[in-house]
Amino acid sequence: MIYRALLSVLFITSIVQISLSQSYTPSATNLEARQWFSDSRFGLFIHWGLFSIPGSGEWVMNDRKITVQNYTLLERFFNPSEFNAKAWVGAAKNAGMKYVTLVTRHHDGFSLWDTKYSDFNVMNTPYRKDIVKMVADECRKQNIKLFLYYSLLDWRRDDYPYETGRTGQHSGRASKSDYANYLRFMKNQLTELLTNYGEIGGIWFDGHWDQTAPEGERDRSSRLDWKYEELYGLIHQLQPQCLIGNNHHLNPLPGEDFQMFERDLPGENTSGLSFQEASDNLPVEACQTISESWGFNLNDTTYKSSKQLIQYLAKSAALGSNLLLNIGPMPNGEIQSEFQDRLSDIGLWLQVNGESIYGTSAGYLPPQTWGCITQYNDKMYIHVFDNNGDDIILDRFPYKKIKKAYSLADDAKVKTEIRQGNAFVSTKSADVKDDVHVIVLEVAN
Ligand code: GLC
Repeated sequence: MIYRALLSVLFITSIVQISLSQSYTPSATNLEARQWFSDSRFGLFIHWGLFSIPGSGEWVMNDRKITVQNYTLLERFFNPSEFNAKAWVGAAKNAGMKYVTLVTRHHDGFSLWDTKYSDFNVMNTPYRKDIVKMVADECRKQNIKLFLYYSLLDWRRDDYPYETGRTGQHSGRASKSDYANYLRFMKNQLTELLTNYGEIGGIWFDGHWDQTAPEGERDRSSRLDWKYEELYGLIHQLQPQCLIGNNHHLNPLPGEDFQMFERDLPGENTSGLSFQEASDNLPVEACQTISESWGFNLNDTTYKSSKQLIQYLAKSAALGSNLLLNIGPMPNGEIQSEFQDRLSDIGLWLQVNGESIYGTSAGYLPPQTWGCITQYNDKMYIHVFDNNGDDIILDRFPYKKIKKAYSLADDAKVKTEIRQGNAFVSTKSADVKDDVHVIVLEVAN
């Protein structure tokens, strides 16, 4: 009898939980924010913190098996004399980006703001200034939206369920974890971030994969019940417009407002991390690095060229996705010239060709070897990558007429023809001088 009663209580609680997690209805402001986000297409990812100091990427604590005790020494060296929020946000703005996603607390557990809930924070370094506040104020001034990266995984705290984690096994933790306590801690910190820094564009969660089998395995279920309905519910309650995304490398979970792909364009899986399908009803964002590493890395000089990055941005848009492009500033707060130069090259290109990126939707064909397509109403934008003078053939062209065809940069007329349902776009007639040359087709039926 007792057993049956218990069963029904359990049953009811799980129904309540399921319906709680599935009952999320985004607010009108949230839907508006999703549209804004999707139209914006381009943002700056900033990985910076104590991990920048050794110059070995943001995983240095885990990779070099540094204990919590020893890693804590880094706190004493954090004194970024050249940090300038105006310069960082300005770099994003000049690159034509519309938002910044700032790492506020990475897996090493260091908080880049004045938090009451952890001593391991920027106010206890020699620098003693709230970085998140300075970046938030500057974003507001320069009309850039601020998104906050927040790690679910922690290599430092004992209450994080590290026993079942895939990483962070060498930091010297011994006592038993306590997720209820850790969840409370995250809620407190998120409440600070969503209360003290004005409007926040979104929360970018990371680290879920620590508690699952590696990407590509059949069973990717989590060993930990993260209680997302509570975390997500809190965020949407504090700031309903705030977009939630989670880099779990899975299909979106209930309560999330956008989907992300790490080091891949939606539908691709070159990284081995992206087995998930691209969502067709949520905004999608691909994040990518300029070099290999996310955090500052002295050994990493594999910078992608400006041309490759512009092509990547065009391809993201051609797949209906945003691009979140990463920089890892140096420990002194400066952005190295290799990053600055590339950001300004992209910005110059966007000043001329932005119309083919912002507010557009995916092309009717996915990216091809010759380039890719975006579209806005009756304008189709053909991004020509490495022009060899051959006609571009647009298979099964979905329109009857091309009313006008011209280069976006200089209005120079481009020859086109529709034959047997395919469109032929001559690239000889276009004065192709840009790395990614955009031809506009004004189409009609
Ligand atoms: C991965 C890495 C992390 C990085 C993130 C950015 O999850 O663990 O270091 O911040 O990707 O996409």
